[in-house]
Amino acid sequence: MLSPDLTVKIAGVVLANPVMPASGCFGYGEEYAPFFDLRRLGAIVVKGTTAEPCAGNPPPRLAETPGGMLNAIGLQNPGAVAAREKISALWQSSVPVIVNVSGHSAAQYRDVIELLDDLAAVAAYEINISCPNVKAGGMAFGTDPAVVAGLVRELRGATKKPLIIKLSPNVTDITAIARAAEEGGADALSLINTLLGMAIDIERRRPVLANLTGGLSGPAIKPVALRMVWQVTSAVEIPVIGMGGISGARDALEFLMAGASAVAIGAANFTNPLVCPETVEGISDYLAEHGFASVKEIVGLAKKEWS
Ligand SMILES: Cc1cc2nc3c(=O)[nH]c(=O)nc-3n(C[C@H](O)[C@H](O)[C@H](O)COP(=O)(O)O)c2cc1C
Repeated sequence: MLSPDLTVKIAGVVLANPVMPASGCFGYGEEYAPFFDLRRLGAIVVKGTTAEPCAGNPPPRLAETPGGMLNAIGLQNPGAVAAREKISALWQSSVPVIVNVSGHSAAQYRDVIELLDDLAAVAAYEINISCPNVKAGGMAFGTDPAVVAGLVRELRGATKKPLIIKLSPNVTDITAIARAAEEGGADALSLINTLLGMAIDIERRRPVLANLTGGLSGPAIKPVALRMVWQVTSAVEIPVIGMGGISGARDALEFLMAGASAVAIGAANFTNPLVCPETVEGISDYLAEHGFASVKEIVGLAKKEWS
């Protein structure tokens, strides 16, 4: 029997399979390359890049939670100029590289794009409008539909490369934000970023994270993420990359059946560095075992069965 076709197209970029590591959980691939051939990935999403180097938040900035973790890394990254080299090196792995872009103002997002846009290595930008860690930034962008539409419109004018807008779950109605991003000119959406949370150390009688709050990720957030992917894929026409708590092929298949065209895996890379290639294989096995010729056949399938 022929192996199933795993290729998908997101924002005009053809991916060999629908699985990619999520931003901030895979660096620039260097730490993972000794474990497996990065060409087994559909794409690689790199850490949030700001125009200037950023040291991130003070420690402690991680806390374990049941079924997940809180992080308040705060966009630590070497800045767009230093990132150019790392992105180009990663591109040698011949996997499409998606650059996650962060900023505290529309001008700062634009600056990152302008510093990277001549690089053939950049297949697309993922615009982080949702990071809950930066006090003056992401949160405000991702929570107001008019601001989101304006930001996307401005960035649309700054590049011809595809724009994937990464949505925050920390909103009342994620479909309103999704529609605003689509109206502004987004080529695709990715969701969800982390859920805002906190933890308290009862022995020290103070918050665990120096930043007070952090972003919750991991298996605990999967049902919320899945619900939002279902809602958003019913509200917009553009493709969606689903993420939030995916730890293997079974989770990934749920997101695809909910309507995501591809998936990203974040926190699970920390406990199993092989989770991405294993998920690719698991999806392929499922398709073969259930008689599907292409992964595209299962995208949104649960909606068709349900309606
Ligand atoms: C340590 C850490 C760092 C992250 N850094 C970023 C980032 O720089 N930009 C971004 O858009 N999302 C970032 N995220 C969010 C993830 O990309 C992902 O959206 C989220 O963790 C949900 O997926 P998961 O449950 O599989 O981890 C980060 C998450 C973690 C755990």
